[in-house]
Amino acid sequence: MGVFASTDDPVSTGHEQVVFCQDKQSGLKAIIGIYSTALGPALGGTRFYPYATEADALADVLDLSRGMAYKNALANLDLGGGKAVIWGDPEQIKSEALLRAYGRFVESLNGRYYTACDVGTYVADMDVIARETRYVTGRSVEHGGAGDSSILTAWGVFQGMRAAAEHVWGSPTLAGRRVGVAGLGKVGKYLTAHLLDDGAEVVATDVNPRALEWARATHPQVILVDDTAALVASDIDVYAPCALGGALNDETVPVLRAKVVTGAANNQLAHSGIEKVLADRGILYTPDYVVNAGGVIQVADEIEGFNFERAKLRATRIFDTTRQILQLADDEGVPPAVAADRLAERRMAEVGRLRAIHLR
Ligand SMILES: NC(=O)c1ccc[n+]([C@@H]2O[C@H](COP(=O)([O-])OP(=O)(O)OC[C@H]3O[C@@H](n4cnc5c(N)ncnc54)[C@H](O)[C@@H]3O)[C@@H](O)[C@H]2O)c1
Repeated sequence: MGVFASTDDPVSTGHEQVVFCQDKQSGLKAIIGIYSTALGPALGGTRFYPYATEADALADVLDLSRGMAYKNALANLDLGGGKAVIWGDPEQIKSEALLRAYGRFVESLNGRYYTACDVGTYVADMDVIARETRYVTGRSVEHGGAGDSSILTAWGVFQGMRAAAEHVWGSPTLAGRRVGVAGLGKVGKYLTAHLLDDGAEVVATDVNPRALEWARATHPQVILVDDTAALVASDIDVYAPCALGGALNDETVPVLRAKVVTGAANNQLAHSGIEKVLADRGILYTPDYVVNAGGVIQVADEIEGFNFERAKLRATRIFDTTRQILQLADDEGVPPAVAADRLAERRMAEVGRLRAIHLR
């Protein structure tokens, strides 16, 4: 095992464990970050990315693993938060040997960390990693895996949006509302279908002509606009960012006409403080990591032996969690993003504390 120099201090970030892994022959350099195992083994994907520096890789894994602890806590999972990064260009260096070397490091943690897919890693890679470790999920259907996680992600986002609609308009439905979907990718497509089924009007945009073609062919009633700028400035009731992070920023928030923001994209808030600007403008934002937890609920279910109906039921409960967060936000006079963090911290503390009861 190799340790390469670190510039960030894991202790000050509150992480339980940060493991540097190196296998020179295969070119593997990985960092596994375990933020918390208070609720159970840490679960989070492996990001394979050509970071500019080792410090960037470390900063990302510290940030992402902390985020997973909050997400898993609010998804009501008995799992803690972790994440891993493999430093390098997957196009150039991904190989069987590298993935298997990585799998052996995951195995060496003895179940303190479960890995899964993230940017740059795919179901097929998880199958290779699984040749060396039991602690991997998000596998192919042939290996008992759950397949496409965007189905339950979209379902969960729809549930969160229903809860927001109830909070703002008094009824848990999008019927008669105009919803702007930015990004008709894997999640955006399923979300659009749920919205139309519920009786909503959908306005959408995507930078990929193929996605627009899909909308024209499959749902001709969807109104397509040129770009996200046109979408946010249009007369919509709900904005659903389903493309990249940073959708809620100093350009979009001041002109946004929607009363609700609920979408699948990760890290929608471009910087801290923007949640306050949203609240001051009377826009209800349902925290991204709460409503997009359907995917992690799916891979977590796989650890038990995947059952779609059970996983869907768990993703449906995103409705109740969102409702609880919005209520807490009102009661405590804070934006929903702050209320969500408080609720997650409360569960980690209250349930995590029970492990102090000695069993043998
Ligand atoms: N797939 C999941 O299970 C899952 C789970 C949790 C979170 N998320 C997050 O949800 C988001 C969408 O995920 P996905 O799996 O659908 O990804 P995807 O790559 O299939 O879809 C993203 C879509 O956004 C479009 N897009 C990119 N830039 C755009 C822009 N500037 N304006 C408009 N459209 C743009 C792309 O062309 C693509 O069609 C991502 O941020 C992802 O991290 C996904």
